[in-house]
Amino acid sequence: MKIAFFNTKRYDQRSFVEINADYGHELTFFEPRLTPDTASLASGFPAVCVFINDEVGEETLRAIAATGTQLIALRCAGFNNVNLDVAQDLGITVVRVPAYSPYAVAEHAVGLIMTLNRKLYRAYNRVRDDNFALDGLLGFDLHGKTVGVVGTGKIGQCFAQIMNGFGCKILAYDVRPNPVCQEIGVEYVELPMLLTRSDIISLHCPLLPSTHHLINEESLQHLRPGAMLINTSRGGLIDTNAVIEAIKSGRVGYFGIDVYEREGGLFFEDLSDTVIQDDTFQLLQSFPNVVITAHQAFFTKEALHNIAKTTLSNISEVEAGQDCINQVKSI
Ligand code: NAI
Repeated sequence: MKIAFFNTKRYDQRSFVEINADYGHELTFFEPRLTPDTASLASGFPAVCVFINDEVGEETLRAIAATGTQLIALRCAGFNNVNLDVAQDLGITVVRVPAYSPYAVAEHAVGLIMTLNRKLYRAYNRVRDDNFALDGLLGFDLHGKTVGVVGTGKIGQCFAQIMNGFGCKILAYDVRPNPVCQEIGVEYVELPMLLTRSDIISLHCPLLPSTHHLINEESLQHLRPGAMLINTSRGGLIDTNAVIEAIKSGRVGYFGIDVYEREGGLFFEDLSDTVIQDDTFQLLQSFPNVVITAHQAFFTKEALHNIAKTTLSNISEVEAGQDCINQVKSI
């Protein structure tokens, strides 16, 4: 099938070209994100392949459907950037990669915890500057601390297993408890209780209308003073302005994110020569107890391999008229 890839970097092209040797699709790579303005590039391609920050709303969907696109292959798990109702009305099939490496994301969340707790970002810079003082680097033992996991699906489960290995007490909140987590002693509680009892909270649930701004001014009131908040899921789960106020008041003592609610147009780009116009993001960056990575939690060799394999296999199945287990339908 002829596939137009949007929002691609060299690493995407490399992994897709390599894996496509087994599938034989016709791949065309575009650097721009898919947006209403770039939708014309998809003209004549029955399939488009998109990533997290492509804008696949109504306007884009109508534009690509009018020029022959019938399949959207997401090369990611989340599908909050696609208007599924409109896609369905237009007869466009949407497929995704539900899991490519839960370990990659869970391990990155743990990396953020370690970085914030032991202030590795400061320590790295200090030692390079021949400053071997320890003042300001004081951390805490993870052993014995309470960790709250919001969303115990594939990634949340891996995260809970790792934190269990550190000797933490694990609380969880999920609309569907996970028996594997229950087996290792994870205690399921309601969200306010999780927020109240946890020293560290890590978000691993999807962004849905019901989870948008799950962490907001009201829910932040439940937090223990100085709690650590980690988000490797989707930026929209957190009301960033409310968290900024909570950081300023000391209620949030550490904030580690791999995702940001207005990351589209920022993340995945080298903007080092430009002036960032997002004042909220700039303010966040200015705090000493905030660590931001730019949506790299998924970025391991294993994950890229699995993403390419599942995406191309999804496309082959749809092309052959088979049922694709990874199809996403509007509810
Ligand atoms: P999953 O579908 O296996 O697990 C999601 C869990 O969230 C499920 O157990 C579900 O029951 C639960 N859930 C649904 N609604 C909820 C609610 N209202 N409150 C609490 N829990 C709720 O998904 P997986 O693979 O674990 O991924 C989780 C999220 O991680 C994805 O939705 C995606 O946004 C994000 N992600 C981030 C990546 C990154 O690079 N930073 C890479 C891959 C995924």
